[in-house]
Amino acid sequence: MAELNLQEIHDLLITVAHEAGRMMMAATPSYLFSGTKKNSADLVTDTDQAVEKMVSTRLLTAHPDFKFIGEETYHPGQQLTEGPTFIVDPIDGTTNFVHAFPAFCISLGFAVNKSPVVGVIYNPFLDELYTGIKGKGSFVTRNGTKLRLPLKQEPEPLKDLSTCLIGAEWGSDRTGNNFAVKTKVFAKLAASRDDGGAMVHSIRAVGSAALNLVLVASGQQDVFWEGGCWAWDVCAGWCILVEAGGIMVGGNPGDWEATIEGRKYLAIRGAPNGQKEIVEEMWAVIGDGKMDYES
Ligand code: IPD
Repeated sequence: MAELNLQEIHDLLITVAHEAGRMMMAATPSYLFSGTKKNSADLVTDTDQAVEKMVSTRLLTAHPDFKFIGEETYHPGQQLTEGPTFIVDPIDGTTNFVHAFPAFCISLGFAVNKSPVVGVIYNPFLDELYTGIKGKGSFVTRNGTKLRLPLKQEPEPLKDLSTCLIGAEWGSDRTGNNFAVKTKVFAKLAASRDDGGAMVHSIRAVGSAALNLVLVASGQQDVFWEGGCWAWDVCAGWCILVEAGGIMVGGNPGDWEATIEGRKYLAIRGAPNGQKEIVEEMWAVIGDGKMDYES
């Protein structure tokens, strides 16, 4: 295979992201809702499916030798290989999209050797475009201005969890072990130190894993922790995060070698020091009660 031109792939993904954004914004809100997947909190719309069709057609026409994994066409057993692969969520934050809550986006990742090397995330409601190429940094473009990430040129050191703003999501599984782990961790993160908690500044649930990751890449959230999301929710944001000096590890204690398909993630913003300590403090909060989402 010829050498990959990551810049050219990045440029193509941006064109496709803008086209997807126009489709999302043209959808009529009162007709958005089309159905549920595994339960009443796991939503899908006609627009998710139409956008994915447009995206896969455009990307595979330009690169017929590459693989494509998309949320709406994924089937159990489909696995990421070492080959060049587009990993796409046509609308991340579908629940927000249905409610016209302004935190939804298209997430376009590109992985080689199972590692994210290009990421493009576009929120059409706010017209915010996040981009990254391995080794070339990551950026946000808003109101026509392109800024390098993180937004602060000299991010502060990470002290401890009590100084952190945390992103964490409920997800759509509302029963069993994983829901119990999440509710316990949320309570421990929020509780006062006198009561054995970490007393973080606060916890945000913005409703899109991809947007959580770019918030951490930007330095506007210190941490993002989630179990249950999928490769298409994290591939693009992972590249953007790392290019902004952030790190990604697993969402269960001890997992320093997170994988794209691992389904349990912990992202920490760029900082001159303190990243490893925050990871260990988060894992201590999780303790023995591990999440058991299957890859
Ligand atoms: C979901 C969002 C949500 C996260 C879920 C994802 P979707 O993706 O990223 O924040 O909690 O785990 O599945 O369904 O909106 O594409």
